[in-house]
Amino acid sequence: MPQRDRLSNTPTQAVQSGFDLLDGRSILVTGGTGSFGRRFVETVLRRAKPRRVIVFSRDEFKQYEMQQQLGPEWASTLRFFIGDVRDRERLELAMREVDLCVHAAALKHVPAAEYNPMECIHTNVYGAENVVRAALNMGVQRVIALSTDKAANPVNLYGASKLASDKIFIAANNLSGSLGTRFSVVRYGNVVGSRGSVIPLYRRMIAEDAAFLPVTDERMTRFWITLQHGVEFVVSCVAMMQGGEIFVPKIPSMRIVEVARTLAPHLPHKVIGIRPGEKLHEVMITEDDSRQTYELADRYVIEPAFAFWTHEPYQRLGARPVADGFRYASDINDDWLDSDRLARLIAEAP
Ligand SMILES: NC(=O)c1ccc[n+]([C@@H]2O[C@H](COP(=O)([O-])OP(=O)(O)OC[C@H]3O[C@@H](n4cnc5c(N)ncnc54)[C@H](OP(=O)(O)O)[C@@H]3O)[C@@H](O)[C@H]2O)c1
Repeated sequence: MPQRDRLSNTPTQAVQSGFDLLDGRSILVTGGTGSFGRRFVETVLRRAKPRRVIVFSRDEFKQYEMQQQLGPEWASTLRFFIGDVRDRERLELAMREVDLCVHAAALKHVPAAEYNPMECIHTNVYGAENVVRAALNMGVQRVIALSTDKAANPVNLYGASKLASDKIFIAANNLSGSLGTRFSVVRYGNVVGSRGSVIPLYRRMIAEDAAFLPVTDERMTRFWITLQHGVEFVVSCVAMMQGGEIFVPKIPSMRIVEVARTLAPHLPHKVIGIRPGEKLHEVMITEDDSRQTYELADRYVIEPAFAFWTHEPYQRLGARPVADGFRYASDINDDWLDSDRLARLIAEAP
């Protein structure tokens, strides 16, 4: 395998952007045709000069559509690789000479995971293990895995499978030895407008002249992030990661009922009750995580509880520990969206 320059930086550098670090690099995105993957690939192609960007996913049609949408401009850089994260050999082929892997492939539909538990585990848990092994075997330098607020104190299998995945990525740093492959996790909340989420549902119902909008519980709150913010946050984490961190962006909260009122002030809402596997409020950092949590201006960093490799403690890098008993939950957030701000976020969404 040809020698490649190592990705190197200190965690304090490039926090704002990180796109420079991607110039000349080969990047693999598992789940590259999903909501996150598409926006990530498009943003990286426009804002950096990567050597190669490889989209790794199962469905040829989604890949074809993405290729058509992006057009011929990126043909020399972009590759579409059909594969399943359940297939380690295929992942290894895709990871040849790859510098950075962004792992976004997942099954994420909560009821589907409850009905088909082993399917969820095969993709989200064994898939994570396959990404780790393939990255180690192929000498990938950095791997960043996407997680969700549902992984903190999980109440459904989707969240539990993502928590298991987070643990697999964090522990993988113990295995990389002198190869130095580094693995970190990004955890965030609801993506405004992502497939299967409440905003597209409300928009469809409004377009179909629904008589009311359903609201599970008037008290229910969620964290909200745009896809673009998510992509830029992931790139900035790639730039600062040392391995083993869970990065959590500081993002606003809003009650679901306020989302309904913002989208359709003219429509009444009907309370339909909280659904199985749902929480009233989401948590991104639990009280127990807080003992390892450090705060920077735009994010929290949960350091690994068990680290058997050397890394610079964030406190020495200017981050401050959060208060004892701190929780980062969507109902006790300092930052709340109002209708105008939500409308702006929705306008930015695809
Ligand atoms: N959307 C949100 O609100 C949200 C919030 C927090 C965290 N996240 C996390 O962000 C990540 C990306 O989410 P997303 O919204 O982009 O999901 P998405 O739109 O459902 O996309 C999932 C992607 O994964 C691929 N995929 C699924 N199973 C696969 C497998 N076995 N092997 C290879 N590829 C597979 C899908 O393509 P094929 O079906 O063609 O394989 C697709 O490209 C996930 O890890 C999710 O847990 C999402």
